[in-house]
Amino acid sequence: MTAGVAIVGASGYTGAELFRLLANHPKIKIVGAYGMKNTGRDVSEIHPHLHGIVDLKIEEIDCEKICKTADLVFTATPHGVAMKLVPELLKGNSKVIDLSADYRFDEVKTFERYYTKHESPHLKGVYGLPELYREKIKISNLVANPGCFPTAVILSLAPLVKEGLIDLDHIILDAKTGTSGAGATLTESTHHPVAGANVAAYAATTHRHTPEINQELSKLAGREVRVHFTPHLLPLIRGILSTAHVFLKKSMEKTELLKIYREFYGGEPFVRVRKELPQINYVVGSNYCDIGLEPEAEGGRVVVVAVIDNLVKGASGQAVQNMNLMLGFDETEGLRGPALRP
Ligand SMILES: NC(=O)c1ccc[n+]([C@@H]2O[C@H](COP(=O)([O-])OP(=O)(O)OC[C@H]3O[C@@H](n4cnc5c(N)ncnc54)[C@H](OP(=O)(O)O)[C@@H]3O)[C@@H](O)[C@H]2O)c1
Repeated sequence: MTAGVAIVGASGYTGAELFRLLANHPKIKIVGAYGMKNTGRDVSEIHPHLHGIVDLKIEEIDCEKICKTADLVFTATPHGVAMKLVPELLKGNSKVIDLSADYRFDEVKTFERYYTKHESPHLKGVYGLPELYREKIKISNLVANPGCFPTAVILSLAPLVKEGLIDLDHIILDAKTGTSGAGATLTESTHHPVAGANVAAYAATTHRHTPEINQELSKLAGREVRVHFTPHLLPLIRGILSTAHVFLKKSMEKTELLKIYREFYGGEPFVRVRKELPQINYVVGSNYCDIGLEPEAEGGRVVVVAVIDNLVKGASGQAVQNMNLMLGFDETEGLRGPALRP
């Protein structure tokens, strides 16, 4: 069986990454590319690496046409766009994977506090982290693909939180990202002369991914969790490295902790528990999340490091993983490649 998929937000970075990954997917035909400002242009003009691979023009969004041609739609658009399209897309029987924050929150008021007023608050998405919600994703028509930082952070802490091993009131998260995390639109802070030889903290206590991390860790813990999260922008193009500082309730050896992680993620195709602390270049270009940890000899602190490619496991790769689950394909189809090296 071949399925037709459409990409809304075809000119953006996550859109480009969807084309790249789906080009290698034997069971997918990309039937439409949609956008706003870049309507009328060839996809391969905007994304020259797709020349000879993708022969589509970006069209104005037409939900009726999308539903007639596509079994599944990716909305790779800024927050506030999908919420207007998804009601019609679902009515027309297309499944949707939204890469924005529009359907990530259980409580609409949390979304509205950090983003904007919701225009389809009656619709609920399944949070698209396969390692936690695989069975729900398989039967869902609307999947909310997680944020990039939340993917790395939640995967890095899920085993410790679920097993009740750490102090949930003191979770310190220090994360780093490359500039592609901000998307294709030019901004002052990601402009090369500013970001190219710089390191900067931003939204140090107010980042929008904090409530998303809180929501998911709280569900794992069975009580409210509030993390302390600060991101930093690094002069890299791709990649996220998250360093979590957490405190054990009772002293544990590294081997015991690794055993817990390996059991928790046993059989997971895209989580690799490592004996050393992973580095961004272990995963760039791949759908892997690599995790490593070091307990401190005294004081009870454990440092947990997780790395992902923000555009792959942090966005489009995870979206393809979710698509495979929703369409009944092998979960790893189109995603089996290792990272780039060097
Ligand atoms: N970049 C990452 O690492 C990353 C990771 C995880 C999640 N995300 C999320 O994924 C989404 C897309 O991110 P991105 O980095 O790909 O953004 P981007 O590079 O800025 O691309 C945004 C895309 O959305 C389209 N668009 C904007 N407004 C639109 C509208 N009103 N109607 C239709 N299309 C519209 C644009 O099309 P035109 O150019 O034709 O106007 C463009 O193709 C965002 O919600 C982002 O938060 C991004």
